[in-house]
Amino acid sequence: MVTDHKKILPEKQTQMVRSIFASISDRYDFLNHLLSFGQDFVWRKKAVRSMHFFSTMKCLDVATGTGDIAFATATAFPHVSVTGIDFSPSMIAIANKKWSRKKNSPSVAFITGDATQLPFPDNSFDTAVIAFGIRNIPDRQKALEEMVRVILPGGRVVVLEMVSQQNRWIQMWYQWYLCHILPTIASFFSPHKKAYRYLGDSILQFPSIQDFHALMQKSGLKIITSESLTMGITQLFVGQKLG
Ligand SMILES: C[S@@+](CC[C@H](N)C(=O)[O-])C[C@H]1O[C@@H](n2cnc3c(N)ncnc32)[C@H](O)[C@@H]1O
Repeated sequence: MVTDHKKILPEKQTQMVRSIFASISDRYDFLNHLLSFGQDFVWRKKAVRSMHFFSTMKCLDVATGTGDIAFATATAFPHVSVTGIDFSPSMIAIANKKWSRKKNSPSVAFITGDATQLPFPDNSFDTAVIAFGIRNIPDRQKALEEMVRVILPGGRVVVLEMVSQQNRWIQMWYQWYLCHILPTIASFFSPHKKAYRYLGDSILQFPSIQDFHALMQKSGLKIITSESLTMGITQLFVGQKLG
């Protein structure tokens, strides 16, 4: 059964998301790679390849979690400074731990903060990215508008997100995987089965690709790419700031 998060008040959903990520932070990376069958590496690489650096040479990774997109960006673009922001102190603590283990200390910094109130002046970055984060934010338009505000005109907003299936047959299989298999596998490795049930539900309730395009446009972006990855499980949206 899918729990309808649209019926939950936005403040309650935000609170729930905070406690879910606080509870699973230590297992997040492992389960992410396991439950996506390693595809998350491929998806992040694709997202990094769609970034564009042309002036500030700075990238903002919103809802950075344990920092995987931030590290992948710094590795692919060694001349770019990357800032990762997330409202979960325990996810940020893991990102910092991973960063301190990296030998060549890439130019990456992590801070705690809310995606809907970014603590940066306008036009501070060339690219802002959000990977698997936007579906957890009730006010998606505000988060997109904030990313648009902090990038330069001509800069890019890159959104990587797991989406509901367009194909009816794949959707049946996928819904069964998300609602039953994913929380069951997760329960072998993490006591937080409920958290993984939420993750499945949030994917099934993500807006259609067309509706998300409309939201991007309403937030001040021109869509330059929208690419379906791994049988449409994940979508890479790339928008450019107008003006
Ligand atoms: C599924 S994880 C994605 C992490 C990472 N980007 C990745 O690629 O693995 C979602 C992250 O979004 C963060 N998050 C959710 N709502 C947020 C908000 N309003 N502001 C900042 N971070 C938020 C959570 O704390 C969590 O770390």
